[in-house]
Amino acid sequence: MNTTQSSASRSAWFTEARFGMFIHWGLYAIPGQGEWYRSHEKVSVEAYEPYFREFNPRSCDIRAWAKAAREAGMRYMVFTAKHHDGFCLYDSKLTDYKSTNTQGGRDFVREYLEAARAEGLRAGLYYSLLDWHHPDYPKYGDKFHPMRGNEAFKNEKIDFNRYLEYMHGQVEELVSGYGKLDVLWFDFSYDDMSGETWRAQDLVRMVRRYQSDVVIDNRLHAGGHSLESENPDETAGDFASPEQSLPEQGIVNNKGKPVPWELCTTMNNSWAYQPTDRRFKSAPLLIHKLVECVSKGGNLLLNVGPDANSRFPAESTKVLGEIGSWMELNGESIYGCGPADLRRPDWGRYTRKGSVVYAHLFEEPIGPIPLSGIAPEQVKSVRLLRDGSEVKDAGTALGARNKKDTKFVTLAISPNDTWPLPDTCDTVLKIELTE
Ligand code: GLC
Repeated sequence: MNTTQSSASRSAWFTEARFGMFIHWGLYAIPGQGEWYRSHEKVSVEAYEPYFREFNPRSCDIRAWAKAAREAGMRYMVFTAKHHDGFCLYDSKLTDYKSTNTQGGRDFVREYLEAARAEGLRAGLYYSLLDWHHPDYPKYGDKFHPMRGNEAFKNEKIDFNRYLEYMHGQVEELVSGYGKLDVLWFDFSYDDMSGETWRAQDLVRMVRRYQSDVVIDNRLHAGGHSLESENPDETAGDFASPEQSLPEQGIVNNKGKPVPWELCTTMNNSWAYQPTDRRFKSAPLLIHKLVECVSKGGNLLLNVGPDANSRFPAESTKVLGEIGSWMELNGESIYGCGPADLRRPDWGRYTRKGSVVYAHLFEEPIGPIPLSGIAPEQVKSVRLLRDGSEVKDAGTALGARNKKDTKFVTLAISPNDTWPLPDTCDTVLKIELTE
């Protein structure tokens, strides 16, 4: 049984961690047109084969990925063990289509897991339920397969059960042969390719035999509704996985109870390496979005698509570095934090942990800073999180005098002044409440 309670206890580290790194990496880094390249361009298995023969990330240093994640303030990682193209980044005994059969013969899943653990990070694996390489995966009538609508496959006989055995077997290899996994990120279900079509119950039971605590996403079901019910079944997953769009008000089940969730998003507009996609989100934007996720009870899983040599795009490295500098001083307002149950203030957002509320000032207010929704008598102390310095009361300021139900503070010398924020992106005030 997937009692909500056992799900909550295995997810405790996950909701505490709040910030993780997604890595999309595979053969598709060579054509450099995204991990959907085969589907979009209807590329056959044969036409994709040269990339398999060519794949040889000589300078591959996976430890550098984990180090960059840790330095950015991330607490966990998720890596594509197999994407929709079916290429396995590990030594699966069930296929020859794997990284150990390419030049260099390396098991990247093993290297990645060792690297993440060595950097003190929780480590998860992404595994694609779709497989555009396996002969028994539906083709002609499928919605996404590269050979969809191709007459040559119209009357082809496939044995989908054979695919399911393969898929379950591969997942079993991952959960039984690589030590403790923290996240299992199945991707994805659509139309009838959902739930019991994947033999989801057997799959999850098998996974739990080896990894009782692994946190599983909600994509064994199509549509993202599996966690809506009050007592979701064991295949529903432990967290919701909205993609490329931040939920307006967090995610709750149909009884209004918050459900753990994680927004996954790209840093530019592609999951996998795309040399032409240079539109990267800025560090300030991503910090604001991380804070927004936390203020709504969610996590942020931020993606990097390394190039064919396994290097991060230079822009990603730069942005991660900037986020890391902010996290070093302000991470306390992210880890283990959640919604403050206060109206969203005009200058930014609140996050909260117990009796401590963090005010994230995205922009400076004119004059004194109203700690909206918080009365003066509720406040024990206000400090600048980055250096622990005292933030002065501004109750005597002109704009504050008539608003006795709100605590006002200032970073300026005179409480009437408007003052530049020490951190123009997000200056965090730590407010200790009296309860
Ligand atoms: C999607 C895409 C995929 C990507 C994933 C990340 O479902 O199919 O390419 O890996 O989302 O969330």
